[in-house]
Amino acid sequence: MTEARAVIVLAAGEGKRMRSALPKVLHPLLGRTLLEHVLVAAAPLAAARTLAVVGHGAEQVTAHLAETAPHAVPVLQAEQRGTGHAVRLALESAPDCGRTVVVLNGDVPLLRPQTLDALVAAHETTGAAATVLTAEVADPAGLGRIIRDDAGGLAAIVEERDATAEQRAVREINAGIYAFDGAALAAALGKLTTHNDQGEEYLTDVIALLRAQRLPVAAFVATDPVETLGANDRTELAALGALLRDRVNRHWMRAGVTMIDPATTWVDVTVTLAPDVVVEPHTQLRGATTVGEGALLGPDTTIVDSTVGPGASVVRAHVTGAEIGPQASVGPYACMRPGSRLGRKAKVGTFVETKNSSLGEGTKVPHLSYVGDATIGDHTNIGAATVFVNYDGVRKHRTVIGRHARTGADNMFVAPVEVGDGAYTGAGTVVRRSVPPGALSVSGGPQRTLEGWVERYRPGTPAAEAAQAAQAARAAETAQAARAAETAQAARAAETAQAAQPEREPAGSAGPGETPDTPADPGQPGDTATG
Ligand code: UD1
Ligand code: CA
Repeated sequence: MTEARAVIVLAAGEGKRMRSALPKVLHPLLGRTLLEHVLVAAAPLAAARTLAVVGHGAEQVTAHLAETAPHAVPVLQAEQRGTGHAVRLALESAPDCGRTVVVLNGDVPLLRPQTLDALVAAHETTGAAATVLTAEVADPAGLGRIIRDDAGGLAAIVEERDATAEQRAVREINAGIYAFDGAALAAALGKLTTHNDQGEEYLTDVIALLRAQRLPVAAFVATDPVETLGANDRTELAALGALLRDRVNRHWMRAGVTMIDPATTWVDVTVTLAPDVVVEPHTQLRGATTVGEGALLGPDTTIVDSTVGPGASVVRAHVTGAEIGPQASVGPYACMRPGSRLGRKAKVGTFVETKNSSLGEGTKVPHLSYVGDATIGDHTNIGAATVFVNYDGVRKHRTVIGRHARTGADNMFVAPVEVGDGAYTGAGTVVRRSVPPGALSVSGGPQRTLEGWVERYRPGTPAAEAAQAAQAARAAETAQAARAAETAQAARAAETAQAAQPEREPAGSAGPGETPDTPADPGQPGDTATG
């Protein structure tokens, strides 16, 4: 059995360079806040105690902890007097912390649980007083440098602003992730001074203090320096996001997911994908989303906190809090809002919005519709341009439609209302009263047409002018048709007369002004043909 461990996460800093109303550690990165990422990485340590030092935005950070990591106990650091000060307050709040105390900066979201586990295992095996995670980086700017002694052992950590030019040239940096012997740490923290450029108690000074006591300290070099990167401003946050995206995408591709364009595919760390899922470009899968085998997602699709069944397809859609059944089809251009449930092989088609509604197996809403607060049975077809009128201005009501129903195009279901199994409705029906099973319901009565209404009641409007122009064109067409008919009749008469003569006149002798004997080409505009 491992001896009791404690984890302390430092999350009290403001993160000035983020220039944000939101405390730095609460900024999200692929489905978790920076702080959550760190706490998740620490979870396998099975610490007896987890403490989070909060200060800047303490209320917000505490509320977030209660929601996402209730095992973590917040410790208030009212004034941010440095990382050493923060750890000191945490230890004072829980003196019986146990043998190993793991300290983590709250802003290193790419740290893997395996790496932290290996660091702590090495620390406990060697019995060091402190073990520091370090990394060789190309650009160490702004970070604490690892100073080694002649034997190559860890001697001290020097902050960049306190470092000599020679020390600044060192490219091995302090990741801000440590394992300490609890008693040795507590004793060293009591000796910290604020004799540095920032006038703060530096946790990093503990290393030199332990060394001075001839206690063993060690550096644990990260194999992948990316894991140690912190986010201090939003450009770094975006860079970490891209790195995490690539890591997540590599994981899923290796697990059998096809990603056509991994660079534009963003999958939260909280999402689960089955093998043979295909993700088209520009697709975001977020939150507690799970996707079944062989489903097709995208392009241009966002799916949040939803379940997509095996073999389903979701194309150019925005889906939140929905359950999409096996082999169901969504989109293109669909919006599914919370509480939408699609049965097996059901369809939410083009320009369709659903909310708090369930569609049975094989049921289709193919075009241009709003389905709100509805329950629709199996194998029913909803006509194009249908609206489920769910809101009376004060309350929402439900529409219930049975199985194998066929509703016409452009219907309104004014809830609360029911349509029975196998019922039909005509096009343009406003369904205000329930339709029994097998009935046909139509509304609106026979069509009435009031000729000339617009010219009479909307004179001078563009509509009236358009109507007048159309009528004039129609009159002209009628007159022209009459003339053409006359001409044709005259030609036929002339032909008959000619046929009565014994010999044909020589060709080309028809003089000007005479009627030609070939009919006008009906394809030419402006001719007299009326075909
Ligand atoms: C710290 C390290 C530096 C290391 C770097 C890695 C110190 C003195 N320096 O520098 O060697 O290379 O991390 O990213 O430790 N915090 C508190 N209370 C405070 C001050 C800070 O809780 O009073 C928290 C912050 O919220 C943050 C973490 O401690 O999560 C680190 O603080 P930050 O100010 O970012 O330290 P760095 O200057 O980056
Ligand atoms: Ca930092």
